[in-house]
Amino acid sequence: MTSSMNDDFARLLSLKDTMTPWALRAVATLGVPDLLADGELGVAELARRTGVVPDALHRVLRLLTARGVFTEPTPGVFAPTTLSRLLESDHRPMSLRPWLDLDGAIGRGDRACVHILEALRTGLPVYERVYGRPVWEDLASDPALTASFDAAMATRATALAPAVATAYDWPSAHHVLDVGGGTGTVLAELLRTHPHLRGTLLDRAPAVTAARTSWGATAEGRRCAFTPGSFFDALPRGADVILLVNVIHDWADEHAVAILRRCAEALPPRGRVLLVEHVRDGDPGLLELDLLMLLVYGGRERDAADFRELGERAGLRLGGVAEVGGGLSVLEFLL
Ligand SMILES: C[S@@+](CC[C@H](N)C(=O)[O-])C[C@H]1O[C@@H](n2cnc3c(N)ncnc32)[C@H](O)[C@@H]1O
Repeated sequence: MTSSMNDDFARLLSLKDTMTPWALRAVATLGVPDLLADGELGVAELARRTGVVPDALHRVLRLLTARGVFTEPTPGVFAPTTLSRLLESDHRPMSLRPWLDLDGAIGRGDRACVHILEALRTGLPVYERVYGRPVWEDLASDPALTASFDAAMATRATALAPAVATAYDWPSAHHVLDVGGGTGTVLAELLRTHPHLRGTLLDRAPAVTAARTSWGATAEGRRCAFTPGSFFDALPRGADVILLVNVIHDWADEHAVAILRRCAEALPPRGRVLLVEHVRDGDPGLLELDLLMLLVYGGRERDAADFRELGERAGLRLGGVAEVGGGLSVLEFLL
């Protein structure tokens, strides 16, 4: 083999890597980064505290150390790095632990992705084939799964909320309806930063109940209506801004248009629909997310022209697009 063939071989092998993603998820699930947060620990102690077999854990930690996730300052003793810090449960602004936890809703979705060929053959998500029902029904069937999904979304929303609160002319708005707003992290931040605003949070009942319980009694919560419901049904009226954060990418076009139509119907003549979404523009990082949206949710990542077309099909005109950071943009739609 020539040396360039050797390079290509090594590169392809690293691309097909089966074990690093699962090893990473395993340590996140076990909470190893939390155990190492205060410094180094031996593998026997780590295994004892996580209830696993020391030799197997050692082999996982060695792989992740080779990948730069931990260090091994002395043989059999492991220590944190800036990468493992991101997996600590209380890492701010956003912990990646709930996104890699194999016992949680996101890990459950990831585990379905081994059936990628099925998605290629059908163009449909594989989640239902693996778990017997579509993702939203599956989450609804198990309160613990629902809570883990909502918690993962809330960690991301915590990181995102301050940018959303400054990325729009909120002083000119009066009442924001956050559709599919989860446990309301973004809406609570908007109401906190803009005390003249009133809000309505609409999502599935468990998320709305959790939101009311956690921040309903705060000053922001007293200016908010907590409304369980489906965004495929008629939406509450009265808001001049309807916000959807990371909602539309969960859905294929026909469902996305149906949701946007419900928004258009609920909007007053000079109202606005704001989408906070990734806008596909050649960023390779989005390509992996795009496939995940297909395999788990049946959704997709879209470019600005796709969003414009979805809006037109729902009776909405795309006004402007502004970046909010974290790879996300605000897309403003008018009637
Ligand atoms: C990707 S999460 C985004 C949550 C939140 N906007 C955020 O950015 O953290 C999508 C949200 O849509 C909600 N959802 C799914 N189907 C729904 C439906 N039919 N009606 C209302 N909300 C729904 C989920 O409960 C979830 O909170």
